[in-house]
Amino acid sequence: MVHRAAIVGAGHSRFGVLPEGPRALLRTAVDGALATVDKGLDRGTIGRGYLATIGFGGWQIGNASAVLAEELRTPGLATVRVENACASGGFALQEAVHAVASGDVELALVAGLEKMTDVSSPRRRYWLGVSGDTEWERQAGLTFAGVYGLLASAYLARYRLAPEALAEVAVKNHANGALNPNAHFQKPIRREQALSSPKVADPLGLYDCCPVSDGAAAVVVAAADRARTYTDTPVYVEGVGAASDRLAVQERAELLGFPATRRAAEAAFRASGVRREEVSVVEAHDCFTIAELLALEDLGFSEPGGAGPLTLDGATRRDGRLPVNPDGGLKAKGHPIGATGVSQAYELFLQLRGQAGARQVAGARVGLAHNVGGAGATAAVAVLAAG
Ligand code: COA
Repeated sequence: MVHRAAIVGAGHSRFGVLPEGPRALLRTAVDGALATVDKGLDRGTIGRGYLATIGFGGWQIGNASAVLAEELRTPGLATVRVENACASGGFALQEAVHAVASGDVELALVAGLEKMTDVSSPRRRYWLGVSGDTEWERQAGLTFAGVYGLLASAYLARYRLAPEALAEVAVKNHANGALNPNAHFQKPIRREQALSSPKVADPLGLYDCCPVSDGAAAVVVAAADRARTYTDTPVYVEGVGAASDRLAVQERAELLGFPATRRAAEAAFRASGVRREEVSVVEAHDCFTIAELLALEDLGFSEPGGAGPLTLDGATRRDGRLPVNPDGGLKAKGHPIGATGVSQAYELFLQLRGQAGARQVAGARVGLAHNVGGAGATAAVAVLAAG
């Protein structure tokens, strides 16, 4: 296949409850991304900047992307904010890929950012909900934990599964997060802990939920034919795909999966020419444990109802046949909304270059990143490969 874009650098702040403000987090990520470009890069040659953020808590609702140019110290750079809820980062990456593939610019920088933990509880609840359907669902009191709780109930009942399948996702992702120095949670948990944790939205308990985190991530995207000017080990973007669905979950024909993920995955696999069996590592959008199971099925790695048994068998552990979320996923690494999709690209950049340290997936050559907005209203999928 003819490559169109490549990632040549990637940076990451810590994720968690952090003292730093949004600008400091952003600066850590963008400086980190530029510092990892092996052969160096003059920041003045970056042609476009994309900032993925929902502006949690009301942070800079308008014109936020100008802050990216400031923190990147590239006055005058053309910058754009991308907002597609929790999928903002995945969509921003795709905008950068299109910008370099079209020949419009040679280099683009994608950053994702959210500062979530410095707001009061009522405001936090408000901002966690803003990406759901307002007219019918939010005003009726449905939170995202509530929506995913409904999906989990339907899933466990339909496939006659016990909650252990959900708990195993949490155990695996916390075990992976324990090896990630940037993760919000760096402690393994036991299955009994997950099963007995306080309920948030039945059947989902505390350990079935992603936390509320601060953090930022950034990647440098280059036109593929120029990638080796910047590094001898680029990570190529083999294909991307994206889709949307009805905003309100009640308008959907089904509850046991997200058609937007299926459409995005089909497009990304078609564009890449990669077969599912060739994928060696997956970054899946596990905002709640049930979401990881649905993702594996919608992405085509398992038949409907098969992701629970697959997970219980250990296939998705770091040493399993399809490692999923080696960085801890949203569940343990954390989920600073706008940063998440960019953080997935960061992780695959490390994994596919063999630089992921203690959490390295042996022999990783092809990676898939899957980023979902809300409860499946938007989805972005990218297939990446080692150069
Ligand atoms: N997983 C594991 N532990 C968690 C956790 C999570 N998701 N969230 C919080 N904790 C821990 C905290 O570290 C803290 O531990 P400590 O007492 O040892 O310090 C303790 O639980 C209480 O933390 P607190 O922040 O007071 O929890 P909370 O009850 O206010 O919030 C949730 C817990 C699950 C409600 C909150 O994390 C949440 O809303 N998550 C979902 C976020 C979301 O919807 N994102 C968008 C997805 S579409």
